[in-house]
Amino acid sequence: MPAGDFRSVGGRGTGSDAHGGAIHEIRADPNLRTGRRNRARRSYTRDVTHSSTRIPFGPPLAEADPEIAAAIRAEEARQSDGLELIASENFASEAVLEATGSVMTNKYAEGYPGRRYYGGCVHVDKAERLARKRAKKLFGARSANVQAHSGTQANMVAYLALLEPGDTFLGMALDQGGHLTHGHPLNFSGKTYNPVPYGVRRDTEQLDLDELHRLAREHRPRMILVGASAYPRIFPNPEIREIADEVGARVVTDMAHIAGLVAGGALPNPMPHSDIVTTTTHKTLRGPRGGLVLWNDRKLSKRIQSITFPGTQGGPMMHTIAAKAVCFHEALQPAFRDYARQTVANARELADALVEGGFRVVSGGTDNHIVLLDVRVRGTTGRAAERTLEAAGITANKNTIPFDPEKPMIASGVRLGTAALTTRGMRETEMRIVASFMVRALDGAGDRAALRRLRGEVAEFASGFPLYTRPAR
Ligand SMILES: Cc1ncc(COP(=O)(O)O)c(C=O)c1O
Repeated sequence: MPAGDFRSVGGRGTGSDAHGGAIHEIRADPNLRTGRRNRARRSYTRDVTHSSTRIPFGPPLAEADPEIAAAIRAEEARQSDGLELIASENFASEAVLEATGSVMTNKYAEGYPGRRYYGGCVHVDKAERLARKRAKKLFGARSANVQAHSGTQANMVAYLALLEPGDTFLGMALDQGGHLTHGHPLNFSGKTYNPVPYGVRRDTEQLDLDELHRLAREHRPRMILVGASAYPRIFPNPEIREIADEVGARVVTDMAHIAGLVAGGALPNPMPHSDIVTTTTHKTLRGPRGGLVLWNDRKLSKRIQSITFPGTQGGPMMHTIAAKAVCFHEALQPAFRDYARQTVANARELADALVEGGFRVVSGGTDNHIVLLDVRVRGTTGRAAERTLEAAGITANKNTIPFDPEKPMIASGVRLGTAALTTRGMRETEMRIVASFMVRALDGAGDRAALRRLRGEVAEFASGFPLYTRPAR
């Protein structure tokens, strides 16, 4: 076979060659009205798909891969029929989903807008510039990098920008509310650096600022990491900044959980008190799954940019970056302020109603979207409670509570969050109903038939707050 004779072995050449005549006729026939011409083109595409080795542009997912299509439909039904109380989850808008599923996924764009290693980047450049501009406006930051694939990568960028291997930093202990990336021994943060954990007071279950101050003086860390995954209170950023300045430490705030509440003005903005702020875009911020890095000091720019690319990734996910831009645009609208305020109001109502139902809420309440429930009062564990709630159509996750006597895989608590239910349009009245479902589920944990009946009630209640209007995809 002569070099270059690719048609004889299939590939793109086979398809276009076989049908080239037909498409030519369609274009040339003046008697074909536009609609008929388009229909003819569509059937041409389908023929190609089924009869050649071209990649299948044509058939929809349901035909192309019925198994995955069924899994997606079932997941959409699960999200719609149940009550989503996982504090790190939310429902992205249809516009965000559309951008995430767009052709921008096809584009390689290593580098940054205007300085790419690939051609054809004019449109993705526009999307990334918009995403950066909107992120900066949303959080009042001078600089933004929107490329991090996840919250973990965003944190990795912050560590690499400010620390050397072996350096000491303070981070909230995982069993007191912190995240894996805040110094867990199995995570890069705990393996590469020297984490000193801080935590909460036994009596208030709120941040022990005196202990943090003492640890900072004792260990002289290079960095203090502020933020958490299961802490229902506000971090005092100005006070932590003062402590950091006293000992010569940098401040990184990981606002992954609360970013949407900050964006909507329901919680104070950590930006003015931090050297670097990192976040995910998919929790309260309600965007696509991804990370974001923000900073003010231009002296950090070169490091943060080059640590992101080429330091910790290759090509950015341009479809996700486009979707982040959409999410930031949505969060800049006045309606998002109502959403943020309602999310916090809902969490407070849920906490109150659960306390009235006989539960204990860690730290006595909440300032954000998180309610950390101590389930020991019902003689159960976090793991068992998570399973019981799931059987009733309520999704939440087991979580350790401060000074938990149980192992993390068992845990004594359940972490709840109101971001997703608030997106569905639920308010305080509905939080009381949700709390009553939870109390009934946990009180009747052993009665399978009762849990099944409750699941039906939950689904009926949830159907009053419809999710997506377009077909599942
Ligand atoms: C505070 C915090 N930081 C970072 C992350 C990591 O984000 P990702 O799962 O996108 O890596 C999380 C995720 O739950 C988190 O809660």
